[in-house]
Amino acid sequence: MTGARSWRVRRSGGLRGTVRVPGDKSIAHRALLFAALADGECTLDEFPGGLDNVATADALRAMGVAIAARDGTVLVGGRGLRGLRMAATPIDCGNSGTTMRLLAGLLAAQQFGTRLVGDASLSRRPMRRVIEPLRARGAHIAGSALPGKEGELYPPLSIAPLIDGERLHALDLSTGVASAQVKSAMLLSGLYADGPTLVTEPTVSRDHTERMLDALGVPIERVGPAVALDPRGWRGAWDPFRWSVPGDLSAAAFPLVAALVVPDSDVTLPGVGTNPTRTGLLEALGDMRGRVATGARGTTPYGEPIGDLRAATSALRGALVAGERIVRAIDEVPALCVAAACAEGRTEIANASELRVKESDRIAAMASVLASFGASVEERPDGLVIEGARGRLRGARIDSRGDHRIAMSACVLGLVAEGDTEVDDVACVDTSFPGFAALLRSLGAEVEEHGP
Ligand code: S3P
Repeated sequence: MTGARSWRVRRSGGLRGTVRVPGDKSIAHRALLFAALADGECTLDEFPGGLDNVATADALRAMGVAIAARDGTVLVGGRGLRGLRMAATPIDCGNSGTTMRLLAGLLAAQQFGTRLVGDASLSRRPMRRVIEPLRARGAHIAGSALPGKEGELYPPLSIAPLIDGERLHALDLSTGVASAQVKSAMLLSGLYADGPTLVTEPTVSRDHTERMLDALGVPIERVGPAVALDPRGWRGAWDPFRWSVPGDLSAAAFPLVAALVVPDSDVTLPGVGTNPTRTGLLEALGDMRGRVATGARGTTPYGEPIGDLRAATSALRGALVAGERIVRAIDEVPALCVAAACAEGRTEIANASELRVKESDRIAAMASVLASFGASVEERPDGLVIEGARGRLRGARIDSRGDHRIAMSACVLGLVAEGDTEVDDVACVDTSFPGFAALLRSLGAEVEEHGP
């Protein structure tokens, strides 16, 4: 995504106050899909306005689903499991990998064809991980090749219809990487299969899909890192529902880390999702001696725990962050890098090679951003080693690389660096966190936005 919008960020005094972050992007994608497949009209409250979720809503509209949004509430005219219609044109998933991979699973099971396209960043993201297992269960799905990248498949994806009488088959998949998008694509396709779907991951990725399917009465079972869905004997439908979307921990990560590193700060973020498959960042910050408190608030009807987060300025120290905790913090590693740059001592982030295939290569991007601010950083194939540079960071000019989480990380670094910081090309932040700069300003940060 390109755009001329930029931020000018100045070193800021204490950040203080209580602010609501946007609703959880991962949960919102899934809530939309399950609402569209329900037997009747569903209501989704506290629905986020990020462009990634808009891409999913527009895709469903293109397939005949009536969706009306007003003041954060979205009404979805569910058409039942077999009620989607062929889209008249290719479906544009924009920047959203979750939209493309989850739709690939859902649409591979339909009796109509679809073409899924994305923006320049999404068009460079690997798709073999969904194409191969879907083909193995009988789907007619193809990806595209990129010159010099033999062996991988990329968008656009072309899905041909299952013809009369054809069904997807049982699947027993062990995934090489923990990926909630791959797992969810298999479970969505598995709703329509003639046998069970078993997915085993190296460690459990975010489990929002499983929690929702369970709440909707779909026969799903989980044992450790394995999940099984067996639709045989199931009624093949669910009732309409009204769900509210909790705040997004992946969005909260930025004001949270800002509160830890900016002197004299104390920030509360109410109503944030605290699903344990997402809380790796909170645990890592605890290891780094960050003062972050989580006050439990209850659980949504579809099984998602919610809490109030509070963070205050802390004397952070470096830590090792690796293994399964990385899976549960995969989108928060850029924010974690910011905390590491402001800590005392060395932080090592390992087992994070998946970061190289996100909206940008986030290992390379964060290595370059941290170096621009004057931190000492070593880039490794699967992570970074960061020497804390508390008090020595200098303002910098940063290109977001069209990646929302890189833009927001650079902005938070700008709040503690000596001198001004410019972050260029920040329109991408609207994919997950529209109003990010205004939210920081409401806490007392000096962030000016320029451009259209
Ligand atoms: C997501 C899963 C993760 C995550 C992404 C959202 C999801 O991707 O990075 O931002 O909603 O399922 P992977 O499945 O590629 O790990």
